[in-house]
Amino acid sequence: MHATTTSEVVLAIDGGTPVRDKLLPYGRQSISEEDIQAVADVLRSDWLTTGPKVAEFEEALAAWVGAKHAVAFSSGTAALHGAAFAAGLKPGDEAITSPLTFAATANCVLYQGARPVFADVSPDTLNLDPDRVAERITTHTRAVLPVDYAGHPADLDPILALAERHGLIVIEDACHALGAEYHGRRTGSIAHMSVFSFHPVKHLATGEGGMVTTDRGDARQRHAAGQWHYEMVLLGFNYRLTDVACALGLSQLRKLEANLERRREIGARYTAAFRELSGVFTPKMRPDVNPAWHLYPIRVNPAQLNADRAHIFRALRAENIGVNVHYIPVPLHPYYRDRFGYQAGEYPVAEAAYEQLISLPMFHGMSDGDVEDVIAAVRKVSAAYSG
Ligand SMILES: Cc1ncc(COP(=O)(O)O)c(C=O)c1O
Repeated sequence: MHATTTSEVVLAIDGGTPVRDKLLPYGRQSISEEDIQAVADVLRSDWLTTGPKVAEFEEALAAWVGAKHAVAFSSGTAALHGAAFAAGLKPGDEAITSPLTFAATANCVLYQGARPVFADVSPDTLNLDPDRVAERITTHTRAVLPVDYAGHPADLDPILALAERHGLIVIEDACHALGAEYHGRRTGSIAHMSVFSFHPVKHLATGEGGMVTTDRGDARQRHAAGQWHYEMVLLGFNYRLTDVACALGLSQLRKLEANLERRREIGARYTAAFRELSGVFTPKMRPDVNPAWHLYPIRVNPAQLNADRAHIFRALRAENIGVNVHYIPVPLHPYYRDRFGYQAGEYPVAEAAYEQLISLPMFHGMSDGDVEDVIAAVRKVSAAYSG
């Protein structure tokens, strides 16, 4: 943007007119009449929970990602716990994950009494760096949990090779990446177990909900018909997903391809629009991947903009653009600092990225006008603070 324009434009944070009248959220669900009908049909049926819709949704999602089995859970967090449980994590074990994630990725290791160990991320994708993972492997390591940050698949080939060499289980936190492709395959069909979330900001929404996909084992416990007898052999949890939620999930699954397409279109539009802006960096893409664009995190460089991330964040919010930040590195949360003594500086790549990240609105229901508002606001704010 030209300096002459800059001097005329007053940012909303400084009392000017915001780009939009109403806040645009960073993510939200899209619910159609068919979705509502599918839920209403279940409410009129004999089942509210663990009826036919659960198995139908599990089978449909497994087929869609290309996995043999899928198990539904009440949330992505519960699904992560289920995967950590199935991996047999126990006290004394260690599991390696990314510091740049939602806390649940590491918390599921703690739920099992095992210890989460963090390894730094790669500077381009902000996904777990396989070389850093290799450095953290000890005789106690049992699992690795790569995260598909923002929807860009983690570098699974070298991580699976490490796992093979050291006898580790790979649990992919694919909560951002339903529909992402890595080397021609969909996430959910590559790691030993993959975990998805169906929170409303995700590609497919069931309210709360999650799923583990895997090619391993027989995912369902079979019961002989007509028997009343069961025995508890392990400490279990109620992580059931209801038939109501699964009916919504099945209906949403029919629109998943179109929703992914729309997210990819929005991502490409942002990337083209921000290419020339100084101090604003768009997400990097590795070759031979097709990200699912759960988030669109830009990075702002305070050395090129006369404002830090916090200020730019507030300026964008004032323009009614519902930006967010993903994520405060997990080891820096008070719980992790207090319990494990983590300190700032241990994960330089993730921590430096965190200081610069701003997630722009990204959801399949955004109109072209919404997308243009975001672009206008980023241009306006970056122009005001550059040079
Ligand atoms: C990377 C990641 N892992 C796990 C989760 C947990 O999913 P849920 O909110 O469905 O429990 C989320 C959800 O936001 C996530 O972004």
